[in-house]
Amino acid sequence: MEKITRLYSKFQPEHYDIYVDVNREEKTITGKTTIQGNASEKQIAVHQKGLKVSSVKSSNNNLNYDVDDDNDMINIELPEAGAVEFSIEYQAKLTDSMMGIYPSYYEVNGEKKELVGTQFETNFARQAFPCVDEPEAKAKFNLAIKFDEKPGETAIANMPETKVEDGVHYFDETVRMSTYLVAFAFGDMQSKMTETKSGVKVGVFATKAHKANELDFALDIAKRAIEFYEDFYQTPYPLPHSWQLALPDFSAGAMENWGLVTYREALLLIDPDNTSLSTKQLVATVVTHELAHQWFGDLVTMRWWDDLWLNESFANMMEYVSVDALEPDWKIWETFQTSEAPAALQRDAIDGVQSVHVEVNHPAEIDALFDPAIVYAKGARMLVMVRALIGDDALRTGLKNYFAAHKYNNAAGKDLWDALGAASGIDLAKIMNSWLEQPGYPVVSASVEDGHLKLSQKQFFIGDGEDKGRQWQIPLNSNYADMPEIFKDATVDLGNYQELRQSNDKPFRVNVGNNSHFIVKYDQTLLNDILDHADELDSITKMQILQDLRLLAESRHISYASVIPVLSKFADSHSNVVNDALYRLAFNLKKFVDPDSEEEENLKHFMNTLSSDQVKRLGWTAKAGESNDDQLTRPTVLQASLYSEDEESVEAAHKIFEQNQDNLIGLPADTRVLVLANEIKNFSDVDVFEGLLDDYRHTSDPSYKSDICAALTATKDPKLLAIIVANFEDSKTIKPQDLRAWFRGVLANNEGQQFAWDWIRNEWQWLEDTVGGDMEFASFITVTSGIFHTRSRFDEFNEFFAPKVNNPGLTREIKMDTKSIETRVELVEAEKASVNDALAK
Ligand code: BES
Ligand code: ZN
Repeated sequence: MEKITRLYSKFQPEHYDIYVDVNREEKTITGKTTIQGNASEKQIAVHQKGLKVSSVKSSNNNLNYDVDDDNDMINIELPEAGAVEFSIEYQAKLTDSMMGIYPSYYEVNGEKKELVGTQFETNFARQAFPCVDEPEAKAKFNLAIKFDEKPGETAIANMPETKVEDGVHYFDETVRMSTYLVAFAFGDMQSKMTETKSGVKVGVFATKAHKANELDFALDIAKRAIEFYEDFYQTPYPLPHSWQLALPDFSAGAMENWGLVTYREALLLIDPDNTSLSTKQLVATVVTHELAHQWFGDLVTMRWWDDLWLNESFANMMEYVSVDALEPDWKIWETFQTSEAPAALQRDAIDGVQSVHVEVNHPAEIDALFDPAIVYAKGARMLVMVRALIGDDALRTGLKNYFAAHKYNNAAGKDLWDALGAASGIDLAKIMNSWLEQPGYPVVSASVEDGHLKLSQKQFFIGDGEDKGRQWQIPLNSNYADMPEIFKDATVDLGNYQELRQSNDKPFRVNVGNNSHFIVKYDQTLLNDILDHADELDSITKMQILQDLRLLAESRHISYASVIPVLSKFADSHSNVVNDALYRLAFNLKKFVDPDSEEEENLKHFMNTLSSDQVKRLGWTAKAGESNDDQLTRPTVLQASLYSEDEESVEAAHKIFEQNQDNLIGLPADTRVLVLANEIKNFSDVDVFEGLLDDYRHTSDPSYKSDICAALTATKDPKLLAIIVANFEDSKTIKPQDLRAWFRGVLANNEGQQFAWDWIRNEWQWLEDTVGGDMEFASFITVTSGIFHTRSRFDEFNEFFAPKVNNPGLTREIKMDTKSIETRVELVEAEKASVNDALAK
């Protein structure tokens, strides 16, 4: 399979009648699809993958066809071009790949059950029924589903069920939509329902392994999110219902199927009695992300995958816009600063990174497009810049017009800029293309030279990078009056520094609010001025200083040792954004110290100094009425304290464990993982380990499961780590969807690293077969590269992955990850001594 052949130009489907009969017992799918449409020529093709086609007929006549498995196609010879209708009969296997139609496995009271669902994005609809499986090929769909149905089971889909006849569930015809958004599910489900002000039925569905009240939180958010979007977009939600379904097995995080959004259980279900604020925020942003797509993505869809950012960047921004409106007390934009911003700034600094808008030439490249740091995080930051430039009024007017012009149809990036440009009077394409089409971002250097305040921009690289002289149109957001709004040249002279300093009466800064996608390198004069006024800085600014210093140190623009004193300066902050940036930087120092060395002792001592007052202030238990910042900061500082092996903290956690031994799942959710990990690490005993592993196998609480995973992989006992690795391929213990977290845990553990590293190299083929056709696969490489920091691991990594670099779905990932380990190794070699000197003081 070399280049992508687009099928839509020869055949434009208008309507599909889809009948599928799924037998879970036998693991088979039998289907018949009837397609009406317009053929531009006699010789057409539709997509299929893994379908055993038994006939292709038109008006009961057999047509000539030829199945081309290499290209995922069926070539069909029609009697003539023009308006046509034909039917394809086929059989397929029901596989465990989490793509196409697939079963999810779970247990209720010891009884094993299966819930069948679908996942068609990016191009897996072709595994369920023959179709022109391209986002542009929009059509209407009638679904009819039969299955080995048991009493009490139900079926749901994009549209409401109209009737059940002879065991076949029929659903209403859909609106015009892309194939990748078709969805259905059946099994023994529970649900909760409500209705929006405008009469849209909203529902949450899950297996009966969960308590009914776990559905409530998402239901409330979903209802209010739809109401919010109908108002914000000034465009009604176009379907009669919006179902949210939690599937026990799920490859991605969540999927925006129109009218039937699917989720990982961990990202939809919330135990109202014991869930941390950060988990609630996460679920809320996931739900609002997928619901943002119901317009952006579903109603108007990118014409081709190169404009994936239109879908994902936009939904990623809107999740924050909407949650900020629904839950203003959460200050959710601060979470944007602690999650999206650092992810984008880190990844986008590596040479070889993709641009937000990117050509797609090979089928395997489609799945490799979904780089969360770029298409999601950077793209969202890009749109945040747009929003800041044009304001919400123009944004809403522009969007309303964009939806009106392209609804039930497709669009490209230019269409969005045209609509927003017309509403705002600003030529956005010109400004935004520098961000959209170019990879990377600039570091703006601010300095006082010959008495003048000067700025210059240059692409920022962590590691080697080829300087191609790229420039960006940078929204400056300075705190000084009369500064340029957009900085677009290589350098600019802002005038006499002393005069500016005097008339503005505060230290000079740019990128106030940290909303533009660049970092700032202040010269010593300007940085000292800022730090001398540290007490007057707001939290975002403090965070930003730590963020930029970390990146400048990672890239060796400044020495790592020089940022260590700044950490202590901000250590007493009560703000979560500051503490997040501070401990992110502090934990980054771990790579400079060898395990069990004197240097590691010094680092632990330093961490303890940073965190001890905060630990005293916050303690282990939430106080009535405490701030959100305190709730979010507590686990961060406790983790630092436990890392430093502070005796009081280790004892406190141990005591909490002992007091709750019979009900560990009931421990407060925000600190539970710390208590469990502390126990496993410092008071290890095989019974506790076995007990938790057993809980892992049987609990249906996804957040408890992820805590157990983090705790067990923290053990120092090599025998237990070997047991964990031996379970990697046992899907009854570790579901493939959760394997990456286990792998990461063992690999990051010094005592387990060799086991995990040997495992992935030996079992690469198994991994490819199990999670292969999907974006999860490449992320195992990313995870590995995030951990390795020694020369010998770099060599081994290179030896193993270099021969795989021509695999089109992995090329970019392998190149970037190789570079990022190499850069880290060189950084550690160059700065180890000075960092450890600084820590020794
Ligand atoms: N459309 C994606 C899901 C997806 C991604 C399907 C890649 C196929 C390939 C969905 O809208 C999404 O973005 N999901 C995120 C979670 C989201 C809340 C950021 C995911 O799955 O990671
Ligand atoms: Zn999305």
